[in-house]
Amino acid sequence: MSFQLPDRIDTRPIAILGAGTLGRRIALMMATRGAEVRLFDPNAEVREAGVAYAREQLPAVLETIPDGKAGTIVGFDDMAAALKGAWHVVEAVPEKLELKKSIFKQIDELSDPDAILASNSSSYPTSAFADSVKNPARLLSMHYLMPPRATPVELMSCGQTDPAVIDLIAKLMPSYGLTPYIVQRESMGFIYNRIWAAIKRESLNVVASGVASPQVVDAIFRQAMNTRVGPCSAMDAVGLDVVLSIEEHYAHEIPGLPEAPRELLRKMIAEGRLGVKTGKGFYDYPAQK
Ligand SMILES: NC(=O)c1ccc[n+]([C@@H]2O[C@H](COP(=O)([O-])OP(=O)(O)OC[C@H]3O[C@@H](n4cnc5c(N)ncnc54)[C@H](O)[C@@H]3O)[C@@H](O)[C@H]2O)c1
Repeated sequence: MSFQLPDRIDTRPIAILGAGTLGRRIALMMATRGAEVRLFDPNAEVREAGVAYAREQLPAVLETIPDGKAGTIVGFDDMAAALKGAWHVVEAVPEKLELKKSIFKQIDELSDPDAILASNSSSYPTSAFADSVKNPARLLSMHYLMPPRATPVELMSCGQTDPAVIDLIAKLMPSYGLTPYIVQRESMGFIYNRIWAAIKRESLNVVASGVASPQVVDAIFRQAMNTRVGPCSAMDAVGLDVVLSIEEHYAHEIPGLPEAPRELLRKMIAEGRLGVKTGKGFYDYPAQK
């Protein structure tokens, strides 16, 4: 299907749906080119906290972007108003397939016909929502990691995305302080999360089989990779229940993955060792108990 790329992208607003962990960070990055960024979230408390976070962080982020210019970050409680006139819409709502499908139906109806529509979903490719959009040529996955700390953005077609849309977004991202990486074919976990999943899985395997303790796994990884955080303490920070549900999703999609990492996670979860949030995981966190 053909698609007319949006015009006046320097002056038209950008709409972000969902002001949670990722939505507010995407809003922050999108506010570095001088335009209005609209942050929509039905939860007033989260919305206000998201707007406050993005406004607060903006000066520091602008210092890292040559020719960056402060935009205006505005909270919206009305989706139609947030989408009106926007050249770009990014969905960052909770990871629930039915919710995403229904949001894309609404976005499709309420957005300008030339708006480029993106999903930040970590586990659902946009091919899963393509039926919700009349012209999927304007739909793509844009998977942000954790800006402003981690600034890659993975771009992946929904299978019907106009290649000109991916080219345009890839060309624009560096001016927002982001680095685009194009995923060449549909891939659960995009690029980075697949690599990270393998590191987590094998670290769990090493611990489960008694080859080394979590402390030793982290120490050798930190020293060898010259990094501050090892895989076991990173898993503790994310939450071992979240780590397990991600691994179960991979195991469902990729037959033959080893069982031992999931068995170790299930055992630790049954013992209440979910990581930082329960005060103990691979390590103890007395202050969090
Ligand atoms: N957290 C991460 O590390 C991370 C990293 C990359 C991608 N993602 C993806 O980003 C998306 C959002 O994740 P998150 O961690 O920011 O979630 P989150 O729970 O922190 O935030 C989601 C927000 O969406 C809001 N919301 C619910 N229904 C909505 C609706 N109808 N319209 C608009 N907003 C609505 C909620 O109030 C909430 O504030 C998910 O698809 C996730 O896979 C998350």
